[in-house]
Amino acid sequence: MNILFVDQTAKLSGGELALLDIVTPYKDGSKVILFEDGPLRAELVKRQVKVEIIIPNGALNNIRRGSRIPMASITSLVRLARSVAQEAKNFDFIFANSQKAGLISVLAGQLASKPVVWYLHDILNSEHFGKAQLLAARYTARKSTQILVNSKSTKEALQILTGRNDNTHLIYNAFNTKPFVQTANSQENQREALGFDSRPLVGVFGRLSPWKGQDVFLRTLAMMPAVHGLIVGSPMFGEDAYAQHLEQEIKTLGLENRVKLLGFRSDIPELMKTCDIIAHTSIAPEPFGRVIVEGMLSGRPVVASKSGGPNEIIENGVTGMLYTPGDSQALQSVLSEIINEPEQALLMAQRGRETALNRFSLDNMHKRLDDIITVCFNQQKTTLCGESV
Ligand code: UDP
Ligand code: GLC
Repeated sequence: MNILFVDQTAKLSGGELALLDIVTPYKDGSKVILFEDGPLRAELVKRQVKVEIIIPNGALNNIRRGSRIPMASITSLVRLARSVAQEAKNFDFIFANSQKAGLISVLAGQLASKPVVWYLHDILNSEHFGKAQLLAARYTARKSTQILVNSKSTKEALQILTGRNDNTHLIYNAFNTKPFVQTANSQENQREALGFDSRPLVGVFGRLSPWKGQDVFLRTLAMMPAVHGLIVGSPMFGEDAYAQHLEQEIKTLGLENRVKLLGFRSDIPELMKTCDIIAHTSIAPEPFGRVIVEGMLSGRPVVASKSGGPNEIIENGVTGMLYTPGDSQALQSVLSEIINEPEQALLMAQRGRETALNRFSLDNMHKRLDDIITVCFNQQKTTLCGESV
């Protein structure tokens, strides 16, 4: 099967890390189009995947929270859709991996008479998106041949937005477990090199963004003077002011000697194994939450905010712990419980690891995806993109 994959960003955020795993088995005869250049391109090239960058004019970025879609953006969208349609003629179908890519792909699919599979990684509600974005997503959903969602929570929000879920399939993220299995369990040297001693070290992983709630973590640490904190990740989509706010908060709360901000890193398994506990702190519903599964694969106790994907990944008290999103005292309480009950925490971490290894394997995900994609491929001759199935 020859697939034209389309993604708007070339940054290494969760959706794009998921794409890397999806593309690899289909790489022969397939191609990825990105609407910007960035580190994702190098990762694709490393896996011998063909990549093309098509840069839209800047107007595409104007489709933002709360705004109407400006005329210049519509012109830019149509021009981009024509370029993608031209490419799509050489492929069996289009696989769109982000919201803007989805919109452009359904337009391109109609121009080139090709089916479109849209992988939705976002919870489409007003906590995350503005009116124009939700309107565009509704149109994309209506015109997609098949829709993949990264969690039941993502599916529910889509159903509320569109009133239907007939051609929607759940595909959880899957993980290459080798780096987590192979990395030595103790990372004492790394811990020392980072300037931490033997006191409990809690790590928060992920891009810096207000809804990811790293500030909640800082407020929790301020209440736990015997605990150290590691924050790994960088702002990716224009949240530089939030990154500066976090730096300021560290000073204001007097945490300079206990918290380190490491920026974006590519040695996540090592860093997770350097920590004693992995915390997830999102304050808005997390669509899936790759970092939660990665924490479980690392064999560390994981605490996550109780909403969206984490509810589907963690069985509370059994494979991890859930707490009320945004509640720094609740976070303090679950962290204290883990620190004070090390034997129970170890058992929980072991169960979490086993569960993550069983539930999120690349093999299972590829098999399921292949079945869905085969259906789409077989429909190509009988169904035009846009007709629901
Ligand atoms: N990640 C990374 N380096 C960093 C911080 C995060 O490679 O410095 C990875 C992390 O391991 C995870 C992904 O980025 O695989 C974040 O995915 P998640 O689903 O947790 O959140 P998203 O950013 O997609 O909303
Ligand atoms: C998005 C979501 C995140 C999810 C990732 C991969 O970036 O915000 O929760 O894990 O996509 O599906």
